[in-house]
Amino acid sequence: MDTYKIAVIPGDGVGPEVLREGMKVLKRVSELSGRFQFEDTWFPWGCEYYLKNGRMMPEDGIEILKEYDAIYLGAVGYPGVPDHISLWDLLLTIRKNFDQYVNLRPVKLLKGAPCPLKDVAREDINMTFIRENSEGEYAGSGSWLFKNKPNEVVIQDGVFSRVGCERIIRYAYETARKEKRSLTSISKGNALNYSMVFWDQIFKEVGGEYPDVETHSYLVDAASMFMVKDPGRFEVVVTSNLFGDILTDLGAAISGGMGLAAGANLNPERKYPSMFEPIHGSAPDIAGKGIANPMASVWAASQMLDSFGHEDWGKKVLDAIEAVLEDGRCLTPDLFGTSSTSQVGDAILEKING
Ligand code: NAD
Ligand code: IPM
Ligand code: MN
Repeated sequence: MDTYKIAVIPGDGVGPEVLREGMKVLKRVSELSGRFQFEDTWFPWGCEYYLKNGRMMPEDGIEILKEYDAIYLGAVGYPGVPDHISLWDLLLTIRKNFDQYVNLRPVKLLKGAPCPLKDVAREDINMTFIRENSEGEYAGSGSWLFKNKPNEVVIQDGVFSRVGCERIIRYAYETARKEKRSLTSISKGNALNYSMVFWDQIFKEVGGEYPDVETHSYLVDAASMFMVKDPGRFEVVVTSNLFGDILTDLGAAISGGMGLAAGANLNPERKYPSMFEPIHGSAPDIAGKGIANPMASVWAASQMLDSFGHEDWGKKVLDAIEAVLEDGRCLTPDLFGTSSTSQVGDAILEKING
């Protein structure tokens, strides 16, 4: 029997509420499979921890996490701790230290999920977003000069390395080839005359090795418009860190909302653990009410199963989410239902049981 060691970081706000359901699902899957089990260790890191200890996680937090097979994260950030501190000292630190340079975010309209777009077929919203997750606009490079003086200047650098661009773009081509789908690059070379011109150049260069993959290239402004007007254009998509962040919230909006959007932060070389999380934040507006939608977290758990090579179980979990959506009787308020977070978790378990 394989044992997977999972580091669970529920974090802040709705994070703990939704991860509880995700872990319930993983445990049930392991029981049903009879082939593998999860050994979960919960780490109470986050904003509350910060207020007590002056840091988001212990000094050796990264060393501790290194020993795990995967990280399962809820959400980070809460009023009272500045967002740039809470996120940089926990979520972004993990992504960077573990070189999780691929952020894989499915944008897929499941049967039964609400879509605000008119005249769009469900099958037309089925994208695999591959977001660069280690550098770009999130490199954390810059300076703050003459702070609090009249001549104050702030500089935030975008860092696009050849290695960084090539590896994410190659990963995207490989995915498109495997899925036999087109690949779209989203950039902004007309205005960002260094970084995005370079990105476009590398997209073409690497593409030379993949003549079998149909490609498209859009500017990010037009891409956002087409995601709403004609989402069927997009299949596999590769884009930079910031554009990927923004476009996947847009993707969530057209495929059922934040309560349904999941993401995997992958270190494809498997030198370090990968991290699985809902893409939403701590949702302070609904935290503590027991009404957050756990489906995004459960979908992230399905991505974790895929990453362990248990795609059959990953699919069963996703099918169970879809079955609950189609059934329509047990949904949280974001999906116009009246059920609680744990009731939706239980409904997913029931569908998995078959
Ligand atoms: P948010 O994603 O937390 O919330 C945006 C909206 O979506 C809110 O109306 C919220 O109620 C709703 N929502 C989010 N998740 C939901 C769920 N599971 N079910 C139902 N509704 C859901 O974004 P925000 O309000 O901009 O940010 C809140 C905090 O979270 C900030 O501190 C921010 O920095 C942080 N944040 C963290 C992450 C992360 O940890 N991965 C991601 C985004 C934002
Ligand atoms: C996400 C989040 C993070 C990001 C924030 C919280 C730093 O919005 O995972 O989408 O921008 O990557
Ligand atoms: Mn985001």
